[in-house]
Amino acid sequence: MTNNIQKWQLNDGNYIPSLGFGTYQLKGNEGATAIEAAINSGYRLLDSAYNYENEGVVGEGIRRSSVPREELVVTSKLPGRYHRYEDAVKTIQESLYRTNLNYYDIYLIHWPNPSQDLYVEAWQALIDAKKWGLIRSIGVCNFLPEHLKRLKEETGVVPAINQIELHPFFNQEEQRKVNDSYNIITQAWSPLYRAKDISDNQILKGIADKYDKSVPQVILRWHYQLGNIAIPKSANPNRQLENKAIFDFKLNEADMMTINGLTQENGRMNDQDPAVYEEY
Ligand SMILES: NC(=O)c1ccc[n+]([C@@H]2O[C@H](COP(=O)([O-])OP(=O)(O)OC[C@H]3O[C@@H](n4cnc5c(N)ncnc54)[C@H](OP(=O)(O)O)[C@@H]3O)[C@@H](O)[C@H]2O)c1
Repeated sequence: MTNNIQKWQLNDGNYIPSLGFGTYQLKGNEGATAIEAAINSGYRLLDSAYNYENEGVVGEGIRRSSVPREELVVTSKLPGRYHRYEDAVKTIQESLYRTNLNYYDIYLIHWPNPSQDLYVEAWQALIDAKKWGLIRSIGVCNFLPEHLKRLKEETGVVPAINQIELHPFFNQEEQRKVNDSYNIITQAWSPLYRAKDISDNQILKGIADKYDKSVPQVILRWHYQLGNIAIPKSANPNRQLENKAIFDFKLNEADMMTINGLTQENGRMNDQDPAVYEEY
């Protein structure tokens, strides 16, 4: 299967595919089979996390696939309970053992956990792990403007990526502008709103029918045109292919505006505001 996904450049000079594959809840043999299928169908960017307890399955999917490791962009994330510098360094090493890789392309801080106030220390560990060659690019997830500002002020190093909840019902216009101002690429988690009710949305359905595409394809194309890297998860090989088939059409400006207009102030799926919501 050809890989037609264009690459974008990160602020550290490395390149990253403009569409990736989410792996939350892909575990065990079924998970490895789904990841292998995704790679063989052309996905090159894989998302994972220490807390998904599936880094081993990601490694297994990579080994089963026909694609050389160096063509893949493999991601994992540091959990909140390991933000202390020494813990973070050990966790990155443990993540590598679990995947059975000797470097990660991308490693992200999973949540800022501001009440814990250790994310700058965690960031210093990622900076050092990059210097030691354990990681190629470093970034964050769920960071608000004030968290990004502190990283820059206290370490001088700006993340390459900020992965945030982003879908048509919560389009994060302000956070995207802040990310852009630092030259940080925005990645979109739950880019399809976990497929909840999206296909019944008459506005999205109307646009999809016009382009002879599915609602997930229209949403993923909208992400691409906004400059977001979406990382949709699907265990199903047909839906994996469907989610990739977004590079042969273009939404017009009016349709982009219509989708932008679906956003809601309280549009987060599960009210996970990183100013107060924390994960360990
Ligand atoms: N950094 C963070 O804090 C954070 C938080 C959440 C998620 N993430 C990452 O982001 C990734 C994506 O987010 P997500 O998994 O929460 O949600 P998502 O990708 O928006 O949606 C996944 C759901 O949509 C279904 N689906 C996928 N493609 C479909 C299609 N074409 N038609 C119909 N249904 C479809 C999947 O079912 P099937 O599998 O049955 O197809 C699954 O139930 C995660 O897997 C994870 O890697 C990061």
